[in-house]
Amino acid sequence: MTGLGWDHLWVNIHLATMVPSTEPCGAIIDGAVAVTGDRIAWIGKRDDLPGGASRPAAAVHDGGGRWMTPGLIDCHTHLVFGGERAREFELRLKGASYEEIARAGGGIVSTVAATRAASAGELLAAARPRLDAFLREGVTTIEIKSGYGLDTASELKMLRVARRLGAEAPVSVVTSFLGAHALPPEYAGRQGDYVDLVCTEMLPAVARSGLADAVDAFCETIGFTPDETARIFTAAASLGLKVKLHADQLSDLSGAGLAARFGALSADHLEYTSLDSVRAMAASGTVAVLLPGANYFLRERQMPPVAAFRDAGVPIAIASNCNPGSAPVLSLLLMLSMAATLFRLTPEEALAGVTRNAAHALGLDDRGVLAVGKRADLALWDIAHPAELAYWIGHNPCHAVVHGGAPRAITT
Ligand code: NIG
Repeated sequence: MTGLGWDHLWVNIHLATMVPSTEPCGAIIDGAVAVTGDRIAWIGKRDDLPGGASRPAAAVHDGGGRWMTPGLIDCHTHLVFGGERAREFELRLKGASYEEIARAGGGIVSTVAATRAASAGELLAAARPRLDAFLREGVTTIEIKSGYGLDTASELKMLRVARRLGAEAPVSVVTSFLGAHALPPEYAGRQGDYVDLVCTEMLPAVARSGLADAVDAFCETIGFTPDETARIFTAAASLGLKVKLHADQLSDLSGAGLAARFGALSADHLEYTSLDSVRAMAASGTVAVLLPGANYFLRERQMPPVAAFRDAGVPIAIASNCNPGSAPVLSLLLMLSMAATLFRLTPEEALAGVTRNAAHALGLDDRGVLAVGKRADLALWDIAHPAELAYWIGHNPCHAVVHGGAPRAITT
């Protein structure tokens, strides 16, 4: 707080607070938001401003009648990686499936080779423009996974790069250790030994380093079995690390139910999730993170059971899943459009999926909605209605972004 009062005051704006209320998107028409330090200090109708609109702030901003939302949160990305897989994309267009390419030694492990070969500086330089694309769209928090190193040193290298991105860019980075993403080639035929390595060497090293905020795994026929996943989650829990899971993407191994049994923050993908698993997620409060970019890019026909999540009260988040194999996605706004068109979410549900519910998926209760005491992560949009954020395809109406109370420039 400055001697003048608040640090910033925005007026002449409409607010999509995303606080559950009787108003769609928790909207406040002709609102105002005051910020002190990195927190929201006051929010409401402009007419209700204490002291009237003349209440002093160090900086008063005229929002020009635009809409303000919470800063967007991308809760599932693999943003740090070496190389690209455009050739694999061409193979898939000719008929090869994602699983066939993986089983033939391509897929994730080809990105592992490129990521191991890259220095931390090279990974950072490659990831930064990708991150910038998300920042231009109002993203203020982003999750970044490891999982293309698959040996202790390379996994730690990836996590360090992710943390460095958060230190250098005006964005909060949340990290996940994904050592059980694929079987590295040197462990071919010895999957159990690799799971041992993950549990007894990698996880303790990751926990000691403090570089990971959670532990993830890929539970799938081309990934790790439910038993192996359970071993990894047990080891993670013994180290005090929270878990989340790539589950039921290509087949139903009851991954989402397993994640729920371990009290996972989220289960992600979920195209093949059964009703039993949906019920288990509802009981454990596990968020359903849907990834329409991968669904689209892999031409998956099976859709996640959105109506069942809705009926059971499972919170639904949406994420980009930015990665070189299943989702070379650099736009979270495009995911809102796809979530609505492919998965039949309402535009409001899609927006909640990249704000309130995405925060929940990351275990963060200090953001995702506009309310007093929450982080001042804000995005200002040139739109006439919040539904426009899911409506435009390939258009970015982001006008301004505030991260932790600090306005940041939008560079196009
Ligand atoms: O979330 N499914 C596993 N992991 C990524 C894909 C990674 C890759 O193909 O490189 C995903 O879709």
